[in-house]
This record gives sequence, C-alpha cells and structure tokens, in this order.
Amino acid sequence: MSTHKTQIGMIGCGMIAQAHMQNFANDSRTEIRWIVDLNEKALGDSAQKFDVTNTTTNYSEMLKDDKLDAVVVCTPPLSHLRIGMDVLKAGKHLLMEKPLATSVSDAKKLLKAAEKYPDLKVSGCSCRHARLNPKFEYVKKLISDGKLGRVYFVHHRGVGRQGRPGLEYNPTAKWFLNRDIAGGGPLYDWGVYDMSFHLGILGEPKLLKADGICANGLDKVDPGTDVFTVEEHGVAFMTFEGGMKYYWERANHAHASIPNRTTIYGTEGGLQFGYCTWESPEIEYLYVDKKGRGKATSKTLTVNMKKHKGDMQELGQAFIKYLREDGPVPMPMDVEVKNLEIIHKVYKAAGW
Ligand SMILES: NC(=O)c1ccc[n+]([C@@H]2O[C@H](COP(=O)([O-])OP(=O)(O)OC[C@H]3O[C@@H](n4cnc5c(N)ncnc54)[C@H](O)[C@@H]3O)[C@@H](O)[C@H]2O)c1
Repeated sequence: MSTHKTQIGMIGCGMIAQAHMQNFANDSRTEIRWIVDLNEKALGDSAQKFDVTNTTTNYSEMLKDDKLDAVVVCTPPLSHLRIGMDVLKAGKHLLMEKPLATSVSDAKKLLKAAEKYPDLKVSGCSCRHARLNPKFEYVKKLISDGKLGRVYFVHHRGVGRQGRPGLEYNPTAKWFLNRDIAGGGPLYDWGVYDMSFHLGILGEPKLLKADGICANGLDKVDPGTDVFTVEEHGVAFMTFEGGMKYYWERANHAHASIPNRTTIYGTEGGLQFGYCTWESPEIEYLYVDKKGRGKATSKTLTVNMKKHKGDMQELGQAFIKYLREDGPVPMPMDVEVKNLEIIHKVYKAAGW
C-alpha cells in the first residue's frame, strides 16, 4: 500500500465541509492541501482550525497545483457543474456534494465529463445516509433472498415542522431557500438519499410514471431573503417497471409531524423500519408462518451497527479507499443522475 498521503483540496468550507475536513484531518492517509472559499472569514477560520497554509478565494489557483490529487466540492448545487468540469479538466479526482446539480441536463453534463476521464475517480455523496449504512445491505439481502416475495409497494414518509435549511437549520445559508441555486426543497435535499436507499435496495427499477404534490408558504415566517421558492412539503406516487408502486412524502415544514419511516410490502412478507443510522437498528419483519399457511406473525431483526463509525466518517473512508484503489466507488454518478431525473419528474408531475 502506498505511503503517499493523498492531497485533498476543499472547495467551499461551510457547514458540510467542516465534517469532510475533520475526516481528512483525522486520517493518516490524507492531508488537506488547499482550502478555497469565496468568504475570506470562513476561509481563514477553517485554515486555522485545520492548519492549512494554502488558501484562496479562486479555486482555479488551487487547480494549478500538480501535487493536488483530489477535490471535494462543498458549494451550493448551482455551482457544481462549472466547478466539477474545471476540477476534471485539471486532472483531479472529484467528490461532489449532493445534490449533483440543479437540473437533469447539468447533472448529465457532469456525468459525461466524468466519463471522458476514466482515469479520474469521481463520486457523488448521496450514499452518505443510505448505501453506506449497514441497514442498506441488510434490507437489500432480505429482498434478494426472497424473504418478502415480490415487492409491490414501498411507502415512505418523513414530515418535519420548521426544520428548514436556510431557516431553522444552517440559517445563514439562505441559498437553500432559492430553487435556482438549491435545485429544490426536501424532495431534493433529502430525496437524493431516499432514492439512493429505497431504489438501491430494489435494484434500481425504472420509473414509468409519477404523480405529485408540492406546497410552500405554510407559515408566515420571515425568511430573511426575497427568494423563497423551494417546496416545504412534497408528495409523490410513482409506478416503476414491474408494477411496483412507491408512495413518498417529505417535508421540512408542514402541518403534520410524522417520523421518518419506511414500509416495504411484499407478497410474502413486509418490513417496517426507519432507514437512517440514528434511528432504531431494529427492523420489524412481518410474514405468515408455515410458509404462508399459518398465522400472521412478526419478528424483530436487529441490524449490527457496531462497526458503523458515523455517516460522515464512512463517506470519508469510502472515498479514501476508492482513491487508493482499495474499494468501490461510494456513489456512482450514473445512479446520482438517474435519481435526480426521477425527482425532477415528480416536480413536473406536481406542476412545480
Ligand atoms: N449542511 C448540511 O447538513 C449538508 C449535508 C449534506 C450535504 N450538504 C450539501 O453540501 C453543499 C454545501 O452545503 P453547506 O450546508 O455546507 O452550505 P454552506 O452555505 O454552509 O457552505 C457553502 C460554502 O461554499 C462557499 N462557496 C460558494 N460558492 C463558492 C465558490 N464558487 N468557490 C468557493 N467557495 C464557494 C460559500 O462561501 C460557503 O462558505 C450543498 O450541496 C449541500 O446540499 C449539506
């Protein structure tokens, strides 16, 4: 194994970048070589915190550095395409924060650019709460082992109240409220994780049709900005190839409070659980005993979460392993694009 410390450049040093930088700072295989941010104060604070001497407000300056190996992009989604293209053109590996882009066409351009440089390692981040979570492989295996029979319906709801990015969460990041910059509200911000988990465990079924609802303006809060164009509440009903239906609901503010919960209905069994790592490791498995001829019963399955170090740490580890050819791509770009396309179809169906 190489003793070379992988040299990392960070573009954006806001909220999520802090967690990425902590991973790289803690890992003996990596070194943060550059930090870039338009905001000089944020730049200075992070440089001091992580003891990084190379700083700039212009990422092109950083990209000229031959010693730099990989770049992590932690800026708002509207900037991802331009920055991602420049990073790849400069010959650097790329970890792109989610959501990949604000439109399907931008996401596809980024995918095409990544395909042009097969020697560069490129990954998205929507695996963070989803595919790198032990519950993902656990549930996927139950399904592929036939424990549920044919899955005909997935139901997921996660409805919060006044938990909006740009308002109650990361309140200075007003861009979260602007659809042109963020791409969308909770259907986008959380949707990429939901699609990553729910469609991943089912083997990426193809969307046939979607219906949807989007709403905002659900209280009279002062957003602190003129632009508040993202949905606060989104609902979708989708049909996938093979007939599987998926009811999906997400809100960061609505007049209901429903915990994050997934139900998977199969012809021979069902599962009820909260997929996030901070929710219970228990999964309720419901079936009929004696191979379907006996009594309706259930058992609680417990996913072993002991080895899971935390969603951010696992993402950092997975990316470092991928860079060092010691592991697979954490989140394939084509799956990121496919999932964004599904969410955009929901917006279209909702007339949003
Ligand atoms: N905050 C979270 O919990 C979270 C979680 C997962 C993913 N993300 C994603 O990470 C990305 C960043 O989110 P955040 O919450 O850290 O936002 P943030 O607003 O806290 O930080 C973004 C930083 O990027 C800087 N920036 C913007 N454009 C730039 C440019 N062209 N060059 C250099 N710096 C630039 C800003 O000055 C700011 O410091 C988004 O895609 C978001 O969806 C955020």
